Amino acid sequence: MENPSLLSLIVALLSFLSPCLTRMTPRVSFHMGSPGRHLTRFSSHDVSNTTTLLLSEDGDMLYVGARDAVLALDVSHKDAIILRNKLDWNPSEIDLEQCSMKGKEMADCPNFIRVLQFLNTTHIYACGTFAFSPRCTYIHSETLTMSLKPDEGRGRCPYDPYQRNTAIIVDGELYTGTVADYRGNRPVISRHLSEGRRVDLKLDDTLGWLEDPTFISSSFIPDEEKIYFFFSEVGREYDFIDKFIVSRVSQICMSDVGGQRTLQRRWTTFAKAQLLCQADNELPYNVIQDIDSLPPAEGAPADDTLFYGIFTSQWSVNSGRSAVCSFRLTDIKSVFSGNYKVLNRDTLQWSTRVQEKVANPGECGLHNASDNTLRFVKENFLADDSVRPVGRSVTVVSAEHSYSHLTVQRVQAANRRDYTVLFLLTESGYLHKAVLLQSGAHIIEEVQVFKQPQPIKSLKLSIPKGMIYVGTSEGVVRVPTANCSFYWTCPQCVLARDPFCGWDPVSRACVQASNTQASLSQDIDSGNVEEACNSVSFTHRARFAPNKLPAASCPAGELVSVSLNEVVRLQCPAASQLSQQLWERPNSRLSSDLYLHLEDGSLSFVATPATLGHYLCLSTENGYQQTIAIYHVKQKSSPMAHTPSSHTWPQTHPIPTTKAVARPGLHPSVGTWPKRTETRQEETEPTLSSRDTPRDRNVTMWAGESGQKEAELRDGEPLLSARGHCYLKELVVVSVLLVLCLSLLITMLLYVIRQRCRSRTAPQPGTSSRVSDRRTPVEHEALRGSQVLSKRNGQASGLVCNGALTGSNGHLPNTPI
Ligand SMILES: *[C@@H]1O[C@H](CO)[C@@H](O)[C@H](O)[C@H]1NC(C)=O
Ligand SMILES: *[C@@H]1O[C@H](CO)[C@@H](O)[C@H](O)[C@H]1NC(C)=O
Ligand SMILES: *[C@@H]1O[C@H](CO)[C@@H](O)[C@H](O)[C@H]1NC(C)=O
Ligand SMILES: *[C@@H]1O[C@H](CO)[C@@H](O)[C@H](O)[C@H]1NC(C)=O
Ligand SMILES: *[C@@H]1O[C@H](CO)[C@@H](O)[C@H](O)[C@H]1NC(C)=O
Repeated sequence: MENPSLLSLIVALLSFLSPCLTRMTPRVSFHMGSPGRHLTRFSSHDVSNTTTLLLSEDGDMLYVGARDAVLALDVSHKDAIILRNKLDWNPSEIDLEQCSMKGKEMADCPNFIRVLQFLNTTHIYACGTFAFSPRCTYIHSETLTMSLKPDEGRGRCPYDPYQRNTAIIVDGELYTGTVADYRGNRPVISRHLSEGRRVDLKLDDTLGWLEDPTFISSSFIPDEEKIYFFFSEVGREYDFIDKFIVSRVSQICMSDVGGQRTLQRRWTTFAKAQLLCQADNELPYNVIQDIDSLPPAEGAPADDTLFYGIFTSQWSVNSGRSAVCSFRLTDIKSVFSGNYKVLNRDTLQWSTRVQEKVANPGECGLHNASDNTLRFVKENFLADDSVRPVGRSVTVVSAEHSYSHLTVQRVQAANRRDYTVLFLLTESGYLHKAVLLQSGAHIIEEVQVFKQPQPIKSLKLSIPKGMIYVGTSEGVVRVPTANCSFYWTCPQCVLARDPFCGWDPVSRACVQASNTQASLSQDIDSGNVEEACNSVSFTHRARFAPNKLPAASCPAGELVSVSLNEVVRLQCPAASQLSQQLWERPNSRLSSDLYLHLEDGSLSFVATPATLGHYLCLSTENGYQQTIAIYHVKQKSSPMAHTPSSHTWPQTHPIPTTKAVARPGLHPSVGTWPKRTETRQEETEPTLSSRDTPRDRNVTMWAGESGQKEAELRDGEPLLSARGHCYLKELVVVSVLLVLCLSLLITMLLYVIRQRCRSRTAPQPGTSSRVSDRRTPVEHEALRGSQVLSKRNGQASGLVCNGALTGSNGHLPNTPI
């Protein structure tokens, strides 16, 4: 690079100009093993590295390329994935010995299956790395038996199992993008298994048609009779920046048979162009990670085919971030039919061609052309224009999630409109489901699919079965694309804004839109509960009338018996990670002098005659407010005496939140949100921001403000901590500390906000440490929570400070500030 300091200045300026990104918080989160999302898993002690997936057309069979094996998994059963067949295919002892003698790690020498494609109705074609000496074979798809003589795999499969490749079989011919040598520096896009007059073709490698590429994907477009390859490589046309990575789309025509003299057995139709994923004033997200095609809607032309890709950035200012861009086929085609750059052989510099255009590079049917024409296309393969994303902007930018894989589906919602749903796999092992709306992407949910970071993983969507398969070294996981029954109420069903799910007023359940003819309540675009649920006799939340508890819609909540001067903590589980919780008392204000709003949404205060009474926890999301919990805090008649019935906390009556869901006698534990039964924790846990900190199920109360004496209330056990004297003095001290901390925190908050916008310019550690060091905001939240907790146990003021933070500015834990 000629002027490094100038470039870094530009980089810094550009990143400073860009606006502070909005947070992308999944609305609900299901950690591993959560009952809210029923995942099916396949793993076996003698099978590993199950990372190459191939789904049969009907979606009943999943073929898996693993380490030294190909598996046939029966995925047609609802509850289990069954291993139907297994083909062992491993290198011999001698092969392994040779591999390790060549200086390769023994762990990388097995046969990692990297190509798995249907060849015809009876056979699968498979290639593996085979101890750094790739091989291919024909496998009978029913019996999973191998043809006797394996093919040489050179140019079809990488040598190194960590090298990315792509392969696709169309009409019995195999199109691949991979490196074709042991060292990994001879990349090639080639065709194999051609017969008759059609010959196998590859790239001419004299001119450097590819520059150290990483192959991502390939896609066949039947209407075009073309195969498109997606990869990233070094962008030599940007010779003023050293090792600038660019993402590319390249094309070849299926009809190509090579030239007659010039370009013999070489592509005559190869062309490549830059894919640009860039937001205004931002550095480009230049490194493509994955891409999936979305076929046009029914009746629309093939030109409307969209490609959704995940891109990350080469620069550390954007490390840990990823963007999704979409590209339209028609834009790709018009770039390929435009002008091409030309390479000056002497200076090795690219420039826009000024001479006359002899031929149209990338045009199909040039195999019969003159040598002159072929020489021209041989030298002009880099399109002058870049392919710009749809709308000339990024579809999604995520500052906190590093996405690696995606798959995309068009879903028809209840209003008959089509919505695009993206399934995005994070490096940390979560599968995000996002719907693209006018206002941006809305992450409906996230589901944890693996725990350890996975170097190699894959994603496969089965639209007919409504399932997503995630292949990792740990095994194969099946995730349903939707399971609406998790949403118990009409408001929850509507707030989810999941195009798959709608509220059926007749069966009073959130059901999958595609499975029913009923007219469903749904509002994907704005998630307006009042409107969507109105038709199902939904009424507004009954608010507290002064000095009066609401009668029918809000029955008496939980009775909490306390002794005076005890610190009381009332829980309020979050309805979702996008909701804000708010505590209310009828006819009274919750002054921040007396009440602490804790990180997890709970309310803490000292029991005094003034603080006894009713408490109401309200949750607001997207303008809709609902009651989550009602408590009646009452003084104990005597410190020791207690009536068991007054301590029914862990199993209290359900609290219907709206009329629509109050169905006494119908499903006593079902008609509420959230359920407050023994399984309550498990049911609500996924929605809470405590993913990594184990929350104790017990109701915890502090005896005294020091918090050192904690007594746990277990299943109606009495609290034996009441002390006799008054805490007036301590109360004053606490109040003074509170005021001090409050002002300190406001100052800090302002500072943090300033820093947050600023930190974007600060250099960050290299991209390699990105995976392990990344935490979602929820995890940060949880971490912060645990820090608070330990602090709180140590000293009195910790509780006051951290409580005052949320209480003073009115923001709640999951609210982006
Ligand atoms: C949907 O989730 C419920 C539990 O929340 C589970 O019982 C059911 O089997 C799930 N359905 C599917 C198709 O996964
Ligand atoms: C194979 O799986 C192991 C873990 O079982 C993992 O450490 C290794 O990186 C994987 N190798 C490849 C090539 O995927
Ligand atoms: C599929 O391909 C294999 C291998 O070339 C061949 O043996 C088999 O007969 C083919 N099957 C059909 C139905 O064409
Ligand atoms: C090449 O062109 C000649 C005449 O232009 C035609 O007769 C011949 O069939 C063509 N060959 C191929 C392979 O298309
Ligand atoms: C209460 O917490 C303790 C430790 O935190 C735990 O061992 C116990 O199982 C919990 N009780 C209930 C009912 O969850």
